[in-house]
Amino acid sequence: MFVEKNVPLQPYNSFGIVAKAQQLVRISSTEALQAACKEGNFAAEPPFVLGGGCNIVLTGDVKPLVLKMEIMGKRLVEETARHFVVEAGAGENWHEFVAWSVAQGWPGLENLALIPGSVGAAPVQNIGAYGVELQDRFHSLDAVNLHTGELFTLEASQCAFGYRDSVFKHATQTGLLGKAVITAVRFALPKAWRPEVSYADLSRKYADFLSQIGTSPAQNLREVLLKQEQLSRRSWAEMLPELIPSASQILDWVVQIRRAKLPDPAVIGNAGSFFKNPFVTPEQRADIIAREPKVVSYNMPDGSIKLAAGWLIDACGWKGKGVGNAGVYEKQALVLVNKGTGTATPATGGEVMTLAKAIQTSVYERFGILLEPEPVVV
Ligand code: EPU
Repeated sequence: MFVEKNVPLQPYNSFGIVAKAQQLVRISSTEALQAACKEGNFAAEPPFVLGGGCNIVLTGDVKPLVLKMEIMGKRLVEETARHFVVEAGAGENWHEFVAWSVAQGWPGLENLALIPGSVGAAPVQNIGAYGVELQDRFHSLDAVNLHTGELFTLEASQCAFGYRDSVFKHATQTGLLGKAVITAVRFALPKAWRPEVSYADLSRKYADFLSQIGTSPAQNLREVLLKQEQLSRRSWAEMLPELIPSASQILDWVVQIRRAKLPDPAVIGNAGSFFKNPFVTPEQRADIIAREPKVVSYNMPDGSIKLAAGWLIDACGWKGKGVGNAGVYEKQALVLVNKGTGTATPATGGEVMTLAKAIQTSVYERFGILLEPEPVVV
């Protein structure tokens, strides 16, 4: 394997933090990864796997060997009676893969458009947005065992997907953190596709689209949406075709919503949502509502309740504030940003983590909830 020394990592992390990899190997094929596993002593010294670098905070130079995943390729693997099975290499850019699959006429991933990062990183945190999670469209993945170099395949049930969670985030005996690297991911995209527009921001875009059509069926449907009523599978099946938005239409709406709310890492460094949305019991919510009636919460199918962490942080007055060059984004308090992007003094990982801890403390003191960071701190 070809080992590069002292490689600057600033271009390879979306926060734009300055740090170096003491040793870095670019992995552009499964075979190259298997060869690296044979040469390196990864059981004793686990490497650090770098995908799109969109979900990490670097707090110093990276000492373990960095494996930079650059396995490319996207293709239709199989067409079954019900699905198109589509595969992409771990190093492919996630958004380009989504846009490509929709353009090919294989809808299903459009709600996940513009999520920064690589295909290989997507299952690790079971990415999700606007009512769809990766696990809803997942087929299987290939990964390499870092200790043996062996290639293996996992189905959805073996990935232990949860909210922003999977088997790849756990260092327990059955967990795969530090033990395996994803090389390719396959998605089963349904032929009986239905739009998913129930998330409030998307529902609003859909209502605007219907008002432009202007016919009375469009108006009637718009009234239903404005009452925030859910559309069943049956109502989609019976709907006039001109009232159904296409997948590429939804992709455009998602791109518009994300651009309006979330900062572009190329302009202002960030790692997306910095904290997970916390889950509470109905009793805990009742307790918070008694003190904070406006708290934003969602009832989950399993009976638990998810609180909007962005609301909690916003309520503590953090929007626009910061520590050094690390700041809280003005339009979405859940996103921490590098205010020094493109200058001689970008935020350091230390500043980002000091800010994160201060936010955790103030949310805990006011609401009794400990927010859990979402990105991996290196
Ligand atoms: N809110 C505020 N103030 C804020 C931010 C949010 O009051 O500063 C309120 C909003 O008014 C809204 C609620 O909080 O009612 C939820 O906000 P939003 O719709 O922006 O979604 P989120 O829960 O903050 C999650 C994901 C995002 C994903 C969006 C859309 C997590 C940790 N984040 O954010 O994912 O794009 O929903 O589905 O689950 C990411 O993981 O990096 C990410 C961007």
